Amino acid sequence: MTAKTGARIVPPADPCCFVVFGASGDLTHRLLVPALYNLAATGLLPEAFSIVGVARAEMSTEAFCAGLREALSKFATRKVEPDVVERLLACVTYVQGGPEDEASFDRLAEKLRAIEAARGTRGNRLYYLATPPTAFAPIARALGRTGLAAEQNGAWRRLIVEKPFGTDLASAQALNRELLAVFEEHQIFRIDHYLGKETVQNIMVMRFANGLFEPIWNRDHIDQVQITVAETLPVGRRGKFYDATGALRDMVPNHLFQLLSLVAMEPPSRFDARSVRSAKAAVLDEIQIDTPQEALRRSVRAQYLAGKAGRETVPDYRATADVAPDSTTETYVALGLMIDNWRWAGVPFFLRTGKALCARRSEIAIKFKQAPLSMFRHMPVEHLAENFLTIGIAPEEGISLQFNAKVPGPSVAIDGVDMTFRYKDHFEAEPSIGYETLIYDCMIGDAILFQRADGVEAGWRAVQPFLDAWKEAGRDGLATYTAGTDGPEEAHRLVGDHGRRWRPICG
Ligand code: BG6
Repeated sequence: MTAKTGARIVPPADPCCFVVFGASGDLTHRLLVPALYNLAATGLLPEAFSIVGVARAEMSTEAFCAGLREALSKFATRKVEPDVVERLLACVTYVQGGPEDEASFDRLAEKLRAIEAARGTRGNRLYYLATPPTAFAPIARALGRTGLAAEQNGAWRRLIVEKPFGTDLASAQALNRELLAVFEEHQIFRIDHYLGKETVQNIMVMRFANGLFEPIWNRDHIDQVQITVAETLPVGRRGKFYDATGALRDMVPNHLFQLLSLVAMEPPSRFDARSVRSAKAAVLDEIQIDTPQEALRRSVRAQYLAGKAGRETVPDYRATADVAPDSTTETYVALGLMIDNWRWAGVPFFLRTGKALCARRSEIAIKFKQAPLSMFRHMPVEHLAENFLTIGIAPEEGISLQFNAKVPGPSVAIDGVDMTFRYKDHFEAEPSIGYETLIYDCMIGDAILFQRADGVEAGWRAVQPFLDAWKEAGRDGLATYTAGTDGPEEAHRLVGDHGRRWRPICG
């Protein structure tokens, strides 16, 4: 069977067994199973396929399947067809176990061999770590100990590792060492769900499938880049995780840096995992913060105070369940970064992300330099509309270019207008989870949309000076903002110091 997506005929993935650790958890139910369902519904799962759920809880396969069925009824993004569900659930097995229980991995190995013989999945296995991060290394070690990681007789063994990948540079390096002691780099697929987003993948197509942009994609023509991921949601029930993490760790070295590196990287020589990932890591390596003073000067961190964000009345961040009453964890961060290479020298990259803001908006805005002078004497350059090329990721997915146009009429009046491409106007796509492409790509061994060890480490290396400087500064310099606003005043000063203004988030 084949599936048709756009103009391309996409064949089903390789025969394989999808082994998910953390099978009783939220990620499995909310994202993975609905994504597998979508792959099944579009003919992208192989005929020879099986799912093995592994978790600590004692549970029968029937009870596990009942949970998955319920999850599908809640979280599926497309109509749930009973025959597709039955086909999917017919290949599910549950195995009770955890990395501390050595015997459980022997049981798992035995089960896998039996399933593989019965279903013809050829020994290919995708191990998905949908567990808390503390279990990543122990599971990898247990897989190594029991021989489950080794690729033999043409069968592949791949490992998907979820976020967060470390909490700083040293822990990310340590985790890479642990994983690489068991698996080879080509077997490890470090996930960042931003790379599953169509609009994010489209950045490369926009830049490199059009001759139009590349000649002007540099400091001669670009004045600044703004990357915004604003959320209205407060921290809510994630206090325990979030208070130990903060906005910088949660969003910047991973999601925002994915966006930044796709926008700023040099054109890769080929569209393959090696070239693309090398180009992305290289540009992150060119972000350099030399001193703690520079880190403080180039950053703003803030916590929200009670207010109304979206429809929700939000308490002070510090009054959130599982958050320390004297917490200094930031719920908002803005950075002004420079990329030290010839293409970008002197072009500021402003990044901001935060919780409990006035609107949900994720976008990359590239501002081109103004016309050098205005021949329209009554309209000085500063009054002309700014030329922004905006890549919208949420809520609107598309690309828009702002430019000046003549207002119809006898005199020359000028106004800013937008030329806009919206995904939904041009393409019909079933709503998806965003994990479909990532899971499918792993099953066919394509790692373009996954992070390589050096890329993850380059991201942490770039943010480490901020983590260190903030730790040293403690509460000094921690700003506040009212929930439901566009963030702290200090963030406006950060861009103002460079003579720039943020694009509006609210309204
Ligand atoms: C997650 C973060 O990785 O990404 C969350 O842990 C955040 O805090 C989420 O809300 C944002 O993802 P998206 O796809 O909704 O922009």
